Amino acid sequence: MSENLEFYHEPIMLNEIVKGLNLKPFSIVVDCTLGGAGHSFEILKFIPNGKLIGIDKDVEAINYSQNRLSKYSNVVFVRNDFKNYKSILSKLEIKKVDAILIDLGVSSHQIDTPSRGFSFRFDAPLDMRMDTSQKLTAKFVVNNYSKSELIKILKIYGEEKFASLIVSNIIKHRLIKPIETTFELKNIIEECLPKKIIYKSNGASKKTFQALRIEVNSELFGLESAIQDMIDSLNPKGRLAVLSFHSLEDRIVKNIFKYNATGCICPPNIPLCVCNHKASVKIITKKPLTASNLEQTNNPRSTSAKLRIIEKL
Ligand SMILES: C[S@@+](CC[C@H](N)C(=O)[O-])C[C@H]1O[C@@H](n2cnc3c(N)ncnc32)[C@H](O)[C@@H]1O
Repeated sequence: MSENLEFYHEPIMLNEIVKGLNLKPFSIVVDCTLGGAGHSFEILKFIPNGKLIGIDKDVEAINYSQNRLSKYSNVVFVRNDFKNYKSILSKLEIKKVDAILIDLGVSSHQIDTPSRGFSFRFDAPLDMRMDTSQKLTAKFVVNNYSKSELIKILKIYGEEKFASLIVSNIIKHRLIKPIETTFELKNIIEECLPKKIIYKSNGASKKTFQALRIEVNSELFGLESAIQDMIDSLNPKGRLAVLSFHSLEDRIVKNIFKYNATGCICPPNIPLCVCNHKASVKIITKKPLTASNLEQTNNPRSTSAKLRIIEKL
């Protein structure tokens, strides 16, 4: 097998994840965000008699990983959204698994491929779709969403404090002609921001582009219930690891993990438990793990990574 493939994505917190998944030779593992198979390539070394299910909604990720993992016969590739986890497993006639990984967000390949339209660093049609067969594009969002919807997206998903200013300028421009490209949008953003913000920030468009990407790919919607389906599918002692890069994602992960790790969830004023809720998992990472200083220096994309792991009881 050739490892001379073009660079796709540097797997983040690789050792922490492989160790944290507690893999055994017969483990059945689901990599919900296969990407360039950086994590899966390592995982496969630990499960010689097991099976790996690699899911990604981006056809380029599936094609690349099929090539990269071609020497392994124990891999099933699934081009789908991991939010359909339950039906994916059911179609494969798999009831229980031993380890699951979700490595959220975009791959370096997606961000660094100019034609995908994810980045303000390259001029390209405003696209940003991970799944190129889906209808919704960034161009549609920018040109058709209402002012209030756009402000909300920029504020919540991008934590952009100039959201109102930027959206007002977008609306002004789109009344003249549709905004078609990444550079048109970047110029519209920069036109309305104070000059010192543009010079000071590492890309004044970064937050707006991030917000649009999250909206286009519906990154937060359905995450909680997908994680619940994953927890339900774990064998006793099975592990689920989630790597997130955004505070909203991390909050969703933290809360659903906590809910599953909690026994009684009755209100405190009720003297006797009526909920019968039982803890189904143990939290392995009391606080989220972060990338080492060395990794953060070598790969700045790891700086915002938070890794949370649970184990099924
Ligand atoms: C950060 S990359 C994963 C990188 C991978 N762990 C590696 O080491 O190469 C995230 C990948 O997940 C995919 N992805 C994101 N959200 C997804 C979803 N809801 N369903 C399926 N794939 C998704 C993206 O297309 C992208 O390829």
